[in-house]
Amino acid sequence: MQRVLVTGGAGFLGSHLCDRLVREGADVLCVDNFYTGSRRNVESLLDRKDFELMRHDVCFPLYVEVDQIYNLACPASPIHYQFDPVQTTKTSVHGAINMLGLAKRVKAKILQASTSEVYGDPELHPQPESYWGKVNPVGIRSCYDEGKRCAETLFFDYWRQHKLRIKVVRIFNTYGPRMHPNDGRVVSNFIVQALKGEDITIYGTGEQTRSFCYVDDLIEAMVLAMATGDDFTGPVNIGNPGEFTMRELAEKVLSLTGSRSKLAFEPLPSDDPRQRQPDIRLARQELEWEPKVNLEDGLKETIAYFRRLLYAQ
Ligand SMILES: NC(=O)c1ccc[n+]([C@@H]2O[C@H](COP(=O)([O-])OP(=O)(O)OC[C@H]3O[C@@H](n4cnc5c(N)ncnc54)[C@H](O)[C@@H]3O)[C@@H](O)[C@H]2O)c1
Repeated sequence: MQRVLVTGGAGFLGSHLCDRLVREGADVLCVDNFYTGSRRNVESLLDRKDFELMRHDVCFPLYVEVDQIYNLACPASPIHYQFDPVQTTKTSVHGAINMLGLAKRVKAKILQASTSEVYGDPELHPQPESYWGKVNPVGIRSCYDEGKRCAETLFFDYWRQHKLRIKVVRIFNTYGPRMHPNDGRVVSNFIVQALKGEDITIYGTGEQTRSFCYVDDLIEAMVLAMATGDDFTGPVNIGNPGEFTMRELAEKVLSLTGSRSKLAFEPLPSDDPRQRQPDIRLARQELEWEPKVNLEDGLKETIAYFRRLLYAQ
């Protein structure tokens, strides 16, 4: 039985990954400091013998015996990562150092949940993995963007220097059940505002585009990336290339929720990228992976989740 460590396992993506790994027969150790994650996300796994939840901050070393490590610990939405930016950089950088140190000690394979934010405000569309990005090193998003870039550097140095088996996946906007209702991310924002009958906030003109990947597709790609041969390290983009403007997304959410909310326009926050779209040719080729869930079906699942959540509150 594979012993798998998932850091940030009580968060949005981490909890879906734990579900999937347990379902496949792994023995899962979920480590989280509950900064943005919660026990509730992994509640259905807590009674199982093949699942263990440990409160731990990845900024400190961890001594456990595992075969694989998925390193997801890091607040992911601007509201959360800008709340304590120094802690965000520490989590990315010290977290990577500690998890890579652990992987080296126990000879585990290790996967880093990196991000499309390493491309910053890109001059190239869609972004291939070979693009080095255009990132502001001193802005309010830098704690996240540069923290993740430094983590990638550490992964590749451990690979070159210590022959560690690494996988780096660059995740583009992902959405689905268990997103935080108040994290300021566009999908959760629009759905919660629509369900509450509040104005839907659009920043700028609403013509900036984003691509949205449904969580099940993302988890599938992460598991496939971990299963690749030792010669494949990534970085590999994971996301859904379908592009939608913020206005189109808002209109879809309005029609699927049947809400009568109005659109309200506000100024664009600083360093907000105008366009972001993954080039997933490498994932198609190396992982034989393709996103399957279209935006409408994914939104229906996500809306159903938020309806239950708001009703329970
Ligand atoms: N969701 C996306 O669209 C997206 C896009 C790109 C990258 N990612 C990456 O995927 C990972 C998971 O993102 P998510 O959307 O599930 O966010 P999330 O905030 O729901 O999950 C992050 C988890 O990490 C935990 N955590 C934070 N700091 C920690 C620390 N110091 N020690 C231990 N645990 C800590 C949090 O409590 C939380 O459970 C993150 O690394 C994020 O950067 C996500």
